[in-house]
Amino acid sequence: MMITGRNVRGSHGRTSTAPKPTFREVLSSTDPALPKVHDLIRRTFPKDELVGRSEWRDSLREREAGLWSDSRWHLVVAERKGAVIGVASGTYLGNVNTGVIGYLAVSSAARGYGVGPKLREKLRALFRRDARQIRSEPLRAVIGEVHRNNPWLRTLIRSERVLALDFKYYQPSIRRGERPVPLVLYYEFIRRPKQRLPTALIRTLLYSAWRRIYRIPRPMTHRVFRHMLAELALKKSIGEIKMRDLPSPEKTRR
Ligand SMILES: CC(C)(COP(=O)(O)OP(=O)(O)OC[C@H]1O[C@@H](n2cnc3c(N)ncnc32)[C@H](O)[C@@H]1OP(=O)(O)O)[C@@H](O)C(=O)NCCC(=O)NCCS
Repeated sequence: MMITGRNVRGSHGRTSTAPKPTFREVLSSTDPALPKVHDLIRRTFPKDELVGRSEWRDSLREREAGLWSDSRWHLVVAERKGAVIGVASGTYLGNVNTGVIGYLAVSSAARGYGVGPKLREKLRALFRRDARQIRSEPLRAVIGEVHRNNPWLRTLIRSERVLALDFKYYQPSIRRGERPVPLVLYYEFIRRPKQRLPTALIRTLLYSAWRRIYRIPRPMTHRVFRHMLAELALKKSIGEIKMRDLPSPEKTRR
């Protein structure tokens, strides 16, 4: 239902006279929102972090053909007057009972009103449903990747449920010929949060993400992947990156 709101106050104190956005999951490979979503992603992220336009359509086609087994890919959009103002994508992985956030983006004019957190909430609710349906148990965690100098990381780690893992994480290159991207991997606990995460669990998460999200056929043949494992092999568990260790807000980029 579209609600027309006057002077809507965002979760961070910004005030908007614009109508409230509506949120929905994109389910069809022919949904007219798909090209608009891709445009928003293209405006938001650097080239080496962009998936091709056809990739999402192909994922939705797989879903339509009933090919998915224990993993499910989701695309949630926020729309206002037919325009896409926000998007969150992600995949539930049944083998590790974890949701993996892909993209999260809000158009620059709509930022600061809580649209991003709302999109994340919707995605998390879908992961919870997946866990119930596929694993018959509660969702274990949500993980995601963020640039170290992205202010969003500061927002995330203010939550006691989120551990920004203190090791050198790399996202494999999405595009042929590009280098892996150094990012921070964060772990959001769904139930009781902890201060550290066992490296044995992190290793399975890394392998699942590289193999199943980025579809790298043999992660162990990649030098960067082996480096990550070598760093983890030195420890039993990994703690969190502290707020004071992050670049100061003035040096951060969005
Ligand atoms: C990260 C992002 C999705 C957050 O969405 P959002 O709807 O703005 O989220 P919020 O309304 O909760 O605002 C988040 C924070 O950004 C601040 N903010 C960011 N940009 C803002 C802007 N243009 N105007 C006002 N506030 C802004 C908010 O005040 C808030 O700060 P706080 O956590 O210290 O209170 C959005 O900023 C974005 O698209 N960034 C670029 C892509 C990105 O970095 N994605 C995340 C990694 S994948």
